[in-house]
Amino acid sequence: MIRLPDLLAGSLIAAGPGYMPERASSVAEGVDHVFGLLFWISAFFMVVIVGFTILFVIRYRARPSRTGPEASPDHSTRLEIFWSAIPLALVFVIFAASTKVYFAMVESDPGSAPQRVQVTGRRWSWWFDHAGGKGSKELHVVVGKPVELVLASTDVIHSLYVPEFRLKQDAVPGRFTRMVFTPTVAGSYPVLCTEYCGTNHSTMTSVVVVHPDQASFDAWAAEGKGGDETLLEVGVRVFGEKGCSACHSTDGSAGVGPSVKGIWGKEEKITTGATIRVDENYIRESIVKPGAKISAGYEDMMPPIPLDDREIQGIVAYIQSLKDGP
Ligand code: CUA
Repeated sequence: MIRLPDLLAGSLIAAGPGYMPERASSVAEGVDHVFGLLFWISAFFMVVIVGFTILFVIRYRARPSRTGPEASPDHSTRLEIFWSAIPLALVFVIFAASTKVYFAMVESDPGSAPQRVQVTGRRWSWWFDHAGGKGSKELHVVVGKPVELVLASTDVIHSLYVPEFRLKQDAVPGRFTRMVFTPTVAGSYPVLCTEYCGTNHSTMTSVVVVHPDQASFDAWAAEGKGGDETLLEVGVRVFGEKGCSACHSTDGSAGVGPSVKGIWGKEEKITTGATIRVDENYIRESIVKPGAKISAGYEDMMPPIPLDDREIQGIVAYIQSLKDGP
């Protein structure tokens, strides 16, 4: 039960302990500050507007001595500029404050080499494929280690939400979305779906376990291994089964199509002269709609390959594993 005094006290320090959940990620404090800023701007204007409303109701109420409306100016340029300029300045402040936090959520620090986790939303559960191959219904991360979640959905739009991390990202069918953060407090936190996705939307929950150290994570990752096919194994199998290797080498040599070795994350020229970055969305497009962006120097001759989401994630994992060098 949230009591009003707690609410106000909590908001005083931009929604701190007691009101908002614990802050357990690198972006939580920034989100709380934006929330606190919006809260106090709203509170200030509520007091001003309601205050003047009450004042005017009393000051200009009906009285026997008052027969008709008093003469009043119909226009004041100074007043209009005043009440347009202040809200304009305020929305710029809000824009700057929230944009700064937003970029911290979607872009990882260059050189931080985040742990990548492939997240799949489906009616009505989450699935997490961790780096190193371990798949789980729970998300496992290590305190202080940057994490990059790459989200996909096999059916409708879902949205991954961890209140303690102050993070929320949609999982959209047909494309990959991204979320970057660093967990700061070890423990277990609830994972929710916050996009209505049908009958069991409310039960589409999971848990994120933040391990206190790498050894604890490794111990978890080692247990029960060898069951399901890992994403990398899926990728290697599909690459062979679908005949990809007939045109795309994995050792850097040119074939009918470009080699897939060392292309992950690279900037590549395409036939229109534009430059694209090889990321999971480009790989997806190049599989399901190969003619969309052709590598410069190659021809548009690949047929679309109908792969499901897990197979595409597998191909992505395989291409990521084919780094430059020996
Ligand atoms: Cu998935 Cu709501």
